[in-house]
Amino acid sequence: MGQIDHIKKIARYGLENDRESLLKSLNEFIEFFRESKKVNLALQLQSLLKESNRNSGNLTKVGSDHYFNQQNERETNDLFIDKLKSDYRLGNLVIDPEVKNELIYFIKENNSIDLLQKFELPVSNKLLLHGPSGCGKTLASYVIAGELNKTMYVVNLGAIVSSKLGETSKNLTKVFKKAALEDSIIFIDEFDSLGKIRDYNQDHGEMKRVVNTILQLFDYLPQSSIVIAATNQENMIDEALLRRFDVNLEFSLPNKSQIEELIQLTLKKGDFKIPSKTALNKIIRQCETLSYYSIQKTLINAIKRTLFKQLDDKKLEHKINISVWSELIELEKKALKK
Ligand SMILES: Nc1ncnc2c1ncn2[C@@H]1O[C@H](COP(=O)(O)OP(=O)(O)OP(=O)(O)O)[C@@H](O)[C@H]1O
Ligand SMILES: [Mg+2]
Repeated sequence: MGQIDHIKKIARYGLENDRESLLKSLNEFIEFFRESKKVNLALQLQSLLKESNRNSGNLTKVGSDHYFNQQNERETNDLFIDKLKSDYRLGNLVIDPEVKNELIYFIKENNSIDLLQKFELPVSNKLLLHGPSGCGKTLASYVIAGELNKTMYVVNLGAIVSSKLGETSKNLTKVFKKAALEDSIIFIDEFDSLGKIRDYNQDHGEMKRVVNTILQLFDYLPQSSIVIAATNQENMIDEALLRRFDVNLEFSLPNKSQIEELIQLTLKKGDFKIPSKTALNKIIRQCETLSYYSIQKTLINAIKRTLFKQLDDKKLEHKINISVWSELIELEKKALKK
């Protein structure tokens, strides 16, 4: 982490009034200065920190309201993996035109809440993304967060699903309450994990209770909040739950033209090119059956290896070594078969 990152972190926590994280980040910053041999700055910051601690004297009293709020906040925070803002846009996603169209409408609706409400029309704000791994479900959720400029809470479903009776429903309610208060997006990855409750609990009513809780939470979801759930096992999800999503989008493995689009999109940012149209066609044929993620991974690795090789040969050509890339694709296919 560089100096700028430290400053950004400190600014964010300061503005969010998150004293605990602010202090932690300040300490990390002091450590950073120490390591970069700027001892003087480190000492100055440290004495500022000490002085502030002395003046505020704000140790939280156990049992005070503040203490309980802090505890509550910490408990809810454990239920999220991440809280984020996103810079991703639709242009970052290669996708079937029909699916793209649905995404565009979803974004448009959530950008036009006032208009829709004026005509007493409901906003579609519950979205299910399904399909194989590495085909852009998580990326699509970032795109929605970026296009709508909303904060996204990524839910840790592993932490939410509990073997304790009644606990899963309680956790889900906490998550939804928090996100609803802040007009944000709740992203529930691996939505199919809810199916685990069936295995955990001898009590067969528990699964029903959890499904009912989600249905209720969906019903009370404010129009200004959004739920996005993702899964690669749509068949594991309860029928009643499936029906409650306003939009259900399938993400698939890329076809030939989408493979090409992904390659061009990935190369757009860098200096490297594919040597010829024939080479490109060969690679595209070879990549059929692989996910977007796998294809992009082999391409980036091919670029890095080409770079090392050309530096060794002292001949920087900016042309990707196709046989290296081709080998990496075969290795990826082999690894996936295991
Ligand atoms: N449709 C796509 N368009 C462009 N890039 C993609 C696409 N799908 C995947 N990628 C690339 O692969 C990475 C991983 O994809 P992502 O995490 O969205 O997959 P996923 O469908 O959520 O997989 P999983 O089911 O394993 O969670 C993305 O960050 C992006 O770099
Ligand atoms: Mg994902």
